[in-house]
Amino acid sequence: MSASDIARILVTGAAGQVGCALVAALGRRYGPANVVAADIKFPPSFSESSPPRVRLDVTDREALAQVVQAHRIDTIYHLAAILSANGEKNPQACWQVNVGGLLNVLEVAREYSLRRVICPSSMAVFGPDAPRQGTPQDTLLHPTTMYGVTKVSGELLGEYYFRRYGVDVRGIRYPGIISSEARPGGGTTDYAVEIFYAALQERRYTCFLREDTVLPMIYMPDVIEGTIQLAEADPARLTRHTDYNMTGFSIAPRDLAAEIQRHLPDFEIAYAPDARQAIADSWPAAIDDRVARRDWGWRPRHDLAAMTADMLAKLAARQRAGSL
Ligand code: SER
Repeated sequence: MSASDIARILVTGAAGQVGCALVAALGRRYGPANVVAADIKFPPSFSESSPPRVRLDVTDREALAQVVQAHRIDTIYHLAAILSANGEKNPQACWQVNVGGLLNVLEVAREYSLRRVICPSSMAVFGPDAPRQGTPQDTLLHPTTMYGVTKVSGELLGEYYFRRYGVDVRGIRYPGIISSEARPGGGTTDYAVEIFYAALQERRYTCFLREDTVLPMIYMPDVIEGTIQLAEADPARLTRHTDYNMTGFSIAPRDLAAEIQRHLPDFEIAYAPDARQAIADSWPAAIDDRVARRDWGWRPRHDLAAMTADMLAKLAARQRAGSL
């Protein structure tokens, strides 16, 4: 598939951390008029120059079907979800939004013969009994968070819709995502974004994870490139559908703090682990993503140093402009 081949794209969760960046990238690639940004609410900061936007609750199947029909959608990037830490505050809502929402998307995709559904999974599918180092593509999936339970269910549901109904569902297990635009909400890896704002604004940050908590992370430009690459990959080359392992680099909070201190020597960090520590402790420290590299040419461009330099440059520019 090429850029010119995709006609009409719907992005759910478009105002979220990944959604914002993805909507912009898809607009550049396929033309802004071919991308519809959907979310339950849009913050005032959501760019006015964005593609068409619609208010949509993904748990409302009828409303979703109407949007698909009205905008002649043929591809859905389904990003609307409740993340890990928020999921533990309200597990039932997490199930309803993450699994109920996905089921609606898959049903609409089946009913209207959509061309493709892209739905992220997460490293949260792994639990404490999976190998923490070099977590393989195929291993035990016994997550201990509701978020992880919904993501394992989502992978299986997508796979089922592929086998049973031929819906072309594709997904990546994202690690923690670091980004300079929309901020993450309610996740366990959010510290890795918060720390940059705190470093620039206050020169100090209190981290909610222990200093030695190693987790896999990735920088947003790599997420976007990899996701679009998978979406456009030749199906004949794909040996998986909904569950590709992906990673950028593995770091602990103290590694990120030290890298920031190379740019801002007076930055100070303190540690006050909270309930999110237990979630982080149940996840991988480093993920093996060789299957994605082999099947669709996945390759991250940013390591810790490159990401940190770019984050600080982008956020400092916004700070100078008074819009941080
Ligand atoms: N960043 C996510 C979270 O912390 C992991 O998928 O919930």
